[in-house]
Amino acid sequence: MRIITVTASRNYPVFVGSGLLDNADQLITEHIKCTNAVIISDSHVWPLYGPALRDKLQEKGLHVYHFVFPAGESSKTIATYTEILNFLAENHITRSDCLIALGGGVVGDITGFAAATFLRGIPYVQIPTTLLAMVDSSVGGKTAVDLPAGKNLVGAFYQPHLVICDICALNTLPISIFRDGCAEVIKYGILYDAGLFEHLSQNGLAFCREEVIARCIELKRDVVASDEFDTGLRQKLNLGHTFGHGIENLSNYTVSHGQAVAIGMAIISTAACQYGYCDNKTKTAVNHILQQFALPATTDFTAPQLYRAALSDKKRSGEKVNLIIPTTIGNCEILPVATNEIESFIQAGLSYGSDYSSN
Ligand code: GLY
Repeated sequence: MRIITVTASRNYPVFVGSGLLDNADQLITEHIKCTNAVIISDSHVWPLYGPALRDKLQEKGLHVYHFVFPAGESSKTIATYTEILNFLAENHITRSDCLIALGGGVVGDITGFAAATFLRGIPYVQIPTTLLAMVDSSVGGKTAVDLPAGKNLVGAFYQPHLVICDICALNTLPISIFRDGCAEVIKYGILYDAGLFEHLSQNGLAFCREEVIARCIELKRDVVASDEFDTGLRQKLNLGHTFGHGIENLSNYTVSHGQAVAIGMAIISTAACQYGYCDNKTKTAVNHILQQFALPATTDFTAPQLYRAALSDKKRSGEKVNLIIPTTIGNCEILPVATNEIESFIQAGLSYGSDYSSN
């Protein structure tokens, strides 16, 4: 087991290892003194792990409630958030209690936002069960729900008290959801760590899970320690996300987050190459690794559609959008691009598909 300590407005440990769900009750009660616990989960994850966790927490003397909503991004709404708040109020939850997010990114984001705002903030634990949530959304305190206009448009920065990543939970993940998380893992390699990128290239889906997940969390820990509130270097974690979020929203979330980020990374690296920010070798390396992980690199959405979607994204600042540009594998830059230049940038990036098939 590895323990990675995140240093932010609240310091907390992230536990990474195999079989940790079996000891989650112990870890939770050691780190949070609470009377009641509310497990928030979705219709896929609750039947797999919820009842066992509930029973163990009850054996520790806690009163345990659970709130389960339909799995999927379409549940990450103000309506579900309001239902959770009403559930907490009806059960007289107080600041001496805690919420436990048991599931993937949707569960973690909405539970975190409920925890941030109910009674102006109550403790919460993240127990991510997808690769994507383990390496990204459960760590760093970004909480949110979506609006019809775009993804994660309402939320708060609110750090958890504890994160428990049980690698064994990945064994029950459908392969498509596992691949989704691989897009975020590949992202860390492109952003910060050529060695990690190389390991992924050599091993494909058989990469060393515990080691790679812990490495991604360490990289994220360093970013969050230097820029918790996303005003500077943390923006780099949005590599592939500006256009990725647009693709998710335009597709009405039928394109998954990981797939959309993969396409976003393909667009941005192709455009970066065409504009001379990176060489062909870097663009081709991104191209090949996405292919290796069977992640998509192309979209039928047009440059004008993606442009309009990008203008709704949070990364917009006045008349500029901060794009994250790979310069070499392991290095990226934040490039403020004027909004009136974004559409041509996207157009250059959409040529990826033709390159992809000829490589
Ligand atoms: N998911 C990007 C971040 O946490 O900043």
